[in-house]
Amino acid sequence: MRPAARRRASVAIALVLLGARGDAFAQGNARNGLYISKAAGCVGCHTDTRPGSSPFAGGRAIDTPFGTFYGSNLTPHRENGLGKWSEEDFRRAIRLGERPDGTHYFPAFPYASFTGMTDGDVRDLWAYLKTLPTASTPNRPHELRFPFSWRFLVTFWKWLYYKPGALAPTAKASAMENRGMYLIRTLGHCGECHTPRNTLGGPKSDRFLAGGKLPEGRTPNLTPTRLKKWSDADLVKFFKSGTTPAGDLVADNMGEVVQNSTSQLSSEDVAAMIAYLRSLPAQPEETK
Ligand code: HEC
Ligand code: HEC
Repeated sequence: MRPAARRRASVAIALVLLGARGDAFAQGNARNGLYISKAAGCVGCHTDTRPGSSPFAGGRAIDTPFGTFYGSNLTPHRENGLGKWSEEDFRRAIRLGERPDGTHYFPAFPYASFTGMTDGDVRDLWAYLKTLPTASTPNRPHELRFPFSWRFLVTFWKWLYYKPGALAPTAKASAMENRGMYLIRTLGHCGECHTPRNTLGGPKSDRFLAGGKLPEGRTPNLTPTRLKKWSDADLVKFFKSGTTPAGDLVADNMGEVVQNSTSQLSSEDVAAMIAYLRSLPAQPEETK
């Protein structure tokens, strides 16, 4: 190639690259969205556990004391997925727990944690969901015990227990602890299982991560009361592989969290989660 032609070619390439970057910026960064979806474990609740099920096509049963919920189809299918949604509809679902028609989602969709997401991460998640292959699986109705089947009751639940808004960093915490707080409180929604709840299903926020209850049994206390016996290396190994210091492999709920989320995180993010867990006030074990 002669120099002038080469220069023209490189200008053209630069313009293409710039154009691509401009688009990626306007539409959100789907690659970061994929990472955020892993940190948040979206795939677990939104994929049927039967072998061969399409990822994010919904149908996953989620057992709670209030009945069984089924995760929805999040693929861009126009009738049965999110194909007709705008980015604003998505932002409202994540940030406010509201459906496009303004009614409430059940808090089995952990929007009480996800509300803390940054605007950039919400936008990137949406960009990622739009890249998913379309699946036509229709949403399965939840099977809830009366009176919990009343969506309307969620109004009161939200009123009592829900505070929408992006999570603010703590001024006296280090940047690493704040990143860990975001990963644990907001994305990883660890408190949904590890914080005790009252009879209305409201988290006891002053007992954050002190150990909760699931239909299958208790979840451990994640504050230093219990985890001080684990070294940082123990915790890294656990988050990467699900193996405890005693050599047991976690199963079921936490096994899934490790597989879908914590084992997919960067080493920096795992270290940040550990730093945050270490900074929590030690809480006595929940006995009730
Ligand atoms: C613990 C299980 C769980 C996790 C984790 C979860 N969801 Fe869901 N999600 C649900 C349930 C259950 C519903 C249905 C709620 C309802 O019908 O009120 C739902 C509903 C939704 C909806 C509304 C769908 C519709 O058709 O109206 C969107 C959007 C959504 N989830 C996105 C996400 C994203 C994005 C993530 C990850 C950041 C995520 N969810 C993680 C359980 C979960
Ligand atoms: C869907 C519910 C659920 C979620 C969400 C969840 N956990 Fe767990 N976790 C459990 C259960 C149940 C156990 C007990 C597993 C066992 O004993 O086999 C557990 C165990 C653990 C343990 C081992 C503690 C011990 O003393 O044995 C750690 C550490 C842990 N979880 C951290 C986390 C972190 C960090 C998050 C968020 C990224 C998280 N968990 C999210 C249910 C959950």
